[in-house]
Amino acid sequence: MVVKFDLIAAACENMGIGKNKDLPWRLKSEMAFFSRMTSETVDKNKKNVVLMGRKTWDCIPPKFKPLSNRINFIMSRSSVDVQNYKDCYSFTSLQEVLDTLGGEKFQDQYENVWVIGGSYIYEETMKSKFFHRLYLTKIMKHFDCDTFFPKMKDNLVKISDSRVPEGIQEENGIQFVYNVYENPDFNKE
Ligand SMILES: NC(=O)c1ccc[n+]([C@@H]2O[C@H](COP(=O)([O-])OP(=O)(O)OC[C@H]3O[C@@H](n4cnc5c(N)ncnc54)[C@H](OP(=O)(O)O)[C@@H]3O)[C@@H](O)[C@H]2O)c1
Repeated sequence: MVVKFDLIAAACENMGIGKNKDLPWRLKSEMAFFSRMTSETVDKNKKNVVLMGRKTWDCIPPKFKPLSNRINFIMSRSSVDVQNYKDCYSFTSLQEVLDTLGGEKFQDQYENVWVIGGSYIYEETMKSKFFHRLYLTKIMKHFDCDTFFPKMKDNLVKISDSRVPEGIQEENGIQFVYNVYENPDFNKE
């Protein structure tokens, strides 16, 4: 099975994604969209992998850790202690992640790989030939941020996906749009 990285992120007008180890906004419906997209599988015997950086892992409130019904992969240059968590694994490089996804233990267990941030993990997976799609919620408002979405590739193609609501959404007076982009270079050398 060819590995596909589907990135999912929410960014505001200045492409900010985080502030003080948290999200700069509270949008319940956007969070529900994230949970649905990253959890749903066609094959009910499989789960999706959610790949994240150690700081994003640290941002998840203890009661939601690990992200339920998903296989949690965390990247850290040192090892993260995941012993007390089910379906949770720590990796020191993207190559190690790729080797594990292709290995016997996992290859028949997972359906999709969702890259859930933060900056570095988005950047490295977007550079890889396994970068398939970017699901980017654009929040139409400026928020003060200290973490930003990396520069997007110029040749991404905007597509529609039946799982994704179309048009302008609104919650608490904040407007946002779900965009989906496909990488035309997916799986090319
Ligand atoms: N809006 C969104 O969609 C969204 C999504 C995700 C996160 N966020 C926000 O973004 C912020 C966190 O993101 P972040 O960009 O600061 O951090 P991050 O990417 O989640 O984590 C960075 C960490 O990843 C590990 N790492 C980095 N390069 C690595 C490499 N080459 N090999 C192995 N591990 C590596 C390191 O962990 P060690 O230090 O342990 O070595 C590094 O400190 C928070 O504010 C969060 O709320 C927003």
